[in-house]
Amino acid sequence: MTRTAERPLRRALTECVRLATAAPSLHNSQPWQFGIRGMEVDVYADPSRRLLVLDPSGRELLISVGAALLNLRLAIRQAGFRSDLHLFPEPEQGDLVARVTVGHPAVPSPAVTALAEAIERRHTNRHPFARVPVPDDVLDDLRKAAQREGAFLAVAHPPARKAILTMARSADRLLHHHPGYLPELARWTGNDHDGVPLWAAGPGRAAAVPLRDFAELTKLPRRNVKFEPDPSILILATNGDHWPDWVRAGQALQRVLLTATSHYLATMPISQPVEIPALRSRLLAPSSGLHVQMLLRIGYADPALATPRRPVADVLRLQATRHRGHS
Ligand SMILES: Cc1cc2nc3c(=O)[nH]c(=O)nc-3n(C[C@H](O)[C@H](O)[C@H](O)COP(=O)(O)O)c2cc1C
Repeated sequence: MTRTAERPLRRALTECVRLATAAPSLHNSQPWQFGIRGMEVDVYADPSRRLLVLDPSGRELLISVGAALLNLRLAIRQAGFRSDLHLFPEPEQGDLVARVTVGHPAVPSPAVTALAEAIERRHTNRHPFARVPVPDDVLDDLRKAAQREGAFLAVAHPPARKAILTMARSADRLLHHHPGYLPELARWTGNDHDGVPLWAAGPGRAAAVPLRDFAELTKLPRRNVKFEPDPSILILATNGDHWPDWVRAGQALQRVLLTATSHYLATMPISQPVEIPALRSRLLAPSSGLHVQMLLRIGYADPALATPRRPVADVLRLQATRHRGHS
């Protein structure tokens, strides 16, 4: 590729990286970096941003990176190109999670455009949702979105929902007993470019919904607020439970969240019970053979606002030229 052709492509890919960073991440930790080289974008995990207490294995870190990866793929597709995806392309380089190679020009389909347009409209919503059921055809779309990325999505019907919500509340209590939990929460709240801003914490505590309260360490009034009594809860699971499965789970999570956003649904990830191994294994019947990766609360609500992200320059690595690189 000539230098004159390279510059607009680099600009376009930098914008795709910016859209990738709009992805959700555990405590808005944004544990990712990107490297652009010619037609390739390398996606890295940033282990310095792993939450040591909540996420000792790095599972949620890779889910977060997977969510950013899905955004990147969609943004490239929306920019008018196909792309190839290679997970862990250089096994000796464990933090290199994926390489996305820009392919042939192709007009994006309306379905791609709908998801790409949802990237900057999707925000975690910790407010009460309306007492309106989610239609079955929308739930079907969400299931298909998870399947498309190699994961499974189940709707928790009562009484499974009741049991899951009880476990989520116990998980929240158990986490509070971990000596490192609150300092870690403090590290990731109320910052300028990362962490969860206090205004995103929602209006207060809820008996019916296992909220993670990002404002509990502040003087903000935390009152008991009436949330929907029977929240719609989804369970996202994968066949395996290794690094590539976690990245797949992240891509599936993000495709589900964007599909939900395109249907004007509000969404809120719930990860407390998945963070406690003894509870995680009870969220689905062991006979399913599946590994739960995330719970989601969905419903209808006034839109939530965008939380901050680091500037794109902060997440771009300088890439060395590879010998077999593109010219
Ligand atoms: C792996 C993972 C776990 C999360 N767990 C929770 C959670 O337990 N409770 C919650 O309110 N939000 C949770 N979130 C949402 C993040 O806090 C949110 O994505 C982040 O603060 C950025 O905000 P945004 O989603 O509005 O862009 C989780 C997100 C990810 C990717």
